[in-house]
Amino acid sequence: MSGIIRRYRPFFNIDDSFPIVTLHEGNTPLIPAPAVAKATGVSGLEVHLKFEGLNPTGSFKDRGMTFAVSRAKHLGATHLICASTGNTSASAAAYGARASIETLIILPQGKVALGKLSQAVLYGAKIVEIEGNFDQALDMVRIIGQAPGVEIVNSINPYRIEGQKTGAFEVCDQLGGKAPDFHFIPVGNAGNITAYWRGYKEYQQAGKIPTLPKMFGYEAEGSAAIVRGHKIENPETFATAIRIGNPASWEPAVQAASESQGRIDSVTDDEIAAAYKLLAGAEGIFCEPASAASVAGLIKASRQGLVPENSVITCVLTGNGLKDPDSAIRLGEASKITLPPEAPKIADYLGLALS
Ligand code: F0G
Repeated sequence: MSGIIRRYRPFFNIDDSFPIVTLHEGNTPLIPAPAVAKATGVSGLEVHLKFEGLNPTGSFKDRGMTFAVSRAKHLGATHLICASTGNTSASAAAYGARASIETLIILPQGKVALGKLSQAVLYGAKIVEIEGNFDQALDMVRIIGQAPGVEIVNSINPYRIEGQKTGAFEVCDQLGGKAPDFHFIPVGNAGNITAYWRGYKEYQQAGKIPTLPKMFGYEAEGSAAIVRGHKIENPETFATAIRIGNPASWEPAVQAASESQGRIDSVTDDEIAAAYKLLAGAEGIFCEPASAASVAGLIKASRQGLVPENSVITCVLTGNGLKDPDSAIRLGEASKITLPPEAPKIADYLGLALS
């Protein structure tokens, strides 16, 4: 079935008049990660990566955006508006283009990865950069989004969370009708952890899975508002997607962690960078830095003794590495040199013997 709305239709409260704006999002792979399992140091772990970077615009946002933009179309909206650290804006602009609704985007200047910005530009959105951070951009959207005909498509729009809950459905389907024991996920504005928890609970209520996972969410240390228990005025992290100091879904995220007997914790930029490189170099999976916070969290929790042997783990990789080429080039270790087009010289450099 094409797209998450059609595929999981019984889990949505919509009727046949609901227009479906889709780019065939969802159905992303759940990839086994033996090298990550080994890096935890805990024996017998079964680690699976839900690679959301393979969605149509390269992030998990498409699951919520198909629903929010379908709803906007249903209402006859003339404009979509969102604040973004990049992925929401790329997704909104794509689904806006698909629905022929103009998309307005407010971004923190200089803090959006190049790939994300390039998407929003080519999809044809109207873009405003502010001299401020994501939280301030969202404050602007809450006000400007009140204008007639405008639909806010940040995750404060309940349809976003509704669509994103399908990530949990897919994980359970892919595990053969069960939830993992632990679900690790990055936390920025805190919508996605809220959505996954809702999805797991609904799947259990529907009799599709016997047990629920413990939800382990990870903020970046320089932006860890929930962990610290107060807003952060000037959030910082190189994982710009989660550079957020006042998460909109703060309370439901805390509830997801407490109800599931999980936790919300933070990881440092160094821990995120190490996981980012491990995923690429040892698993062949290129995600963006913020996504690696889930794996960094798994490694941290394992070292803290919180993950029992033989557990089944899912880590969500929320976005594609191609979104942020600057981070990859800055942190990548492969050496690169320029040589003349002469085979012996190149072979010599590569350490190969030519007979
Ligand atoms: N990972 C990536 C790649 C993201 O883009 C985001 C959020 C998150 C994780 C955190 O998810 O906000 O639901 O807790 N990006 C938003 C944006 C804020 O504007 O693209 P969350």
